[in-house]
Amino acid sequence: MAEALTKSAARNVFYGGSFFFFAIFVGLTAHSHYYMNTSSTDTSTLSASVARGKHVWEKNACINCHSILGEGAYFAPELGNLWDRWGGKEDTAAAREMLKAWMAAQPSGTPGRRQMPQFNLTDQEVNDLADFLEWTSRIKTQNWPPNKAG
Ligand code: HEC
Repeated sequence: MAEALTKSAARNVFYGGSFFFFAIFVGLTAHSHYYMNTSSTDTSTLSASVARGKHVWEKNACINCHSILGEGAYFAPELGNLWDRWGGKEDTAAAREMLKAWMAAQPSGTPGRRQMPQFNLTDQEVNDLADFLEWTSRIKTQNWPPNKAG
């Protein structure tokens, strides 16, 4: 009677299976990168100030309290859709002023409210941050977050 599964057949199944799924993984990774660059983000408006704003975001570790497009901490509101929430799509200038005023007014000191630290950002840094948040709000996230509050 023939062996149901020889050692070499088992090895081939192992290597073949591993290679097959690894190839699928590489393909999906490549597709994600292609999709990010061609569909979900607008590289033509990715200016130097947007990149600087991302740097301000990272240097000050805003993500330690906030999430952005779902990534980060859940102590403070989601900011990936801040621009949408603050009406920046209709009136960019007003949303920029709001961000400036917000950053200057922290911590609010209101009893019972969670507090955000004062970062003492320069006007330039707040402007770059606004560019970053505005650009981020245009990323096609396939409807994430599911509601406006994030
Ligand atoms: C220590 C935690 C913490 C860090 C770090 C932090 N925040 Fe906040 N942030 C908060 C909290 C808490 C609130 C909500 C405060 C409230 O509603 O009174 C908030 C609210 C905000 C809001 C208003 C959101 C809304 O929907 O009304 C903005 C904008 C904001 N933060 C920007 C930033 C930026 C930019 C950084 C980094 C430079 C940052 N935050 C870092 C805690 C933090």
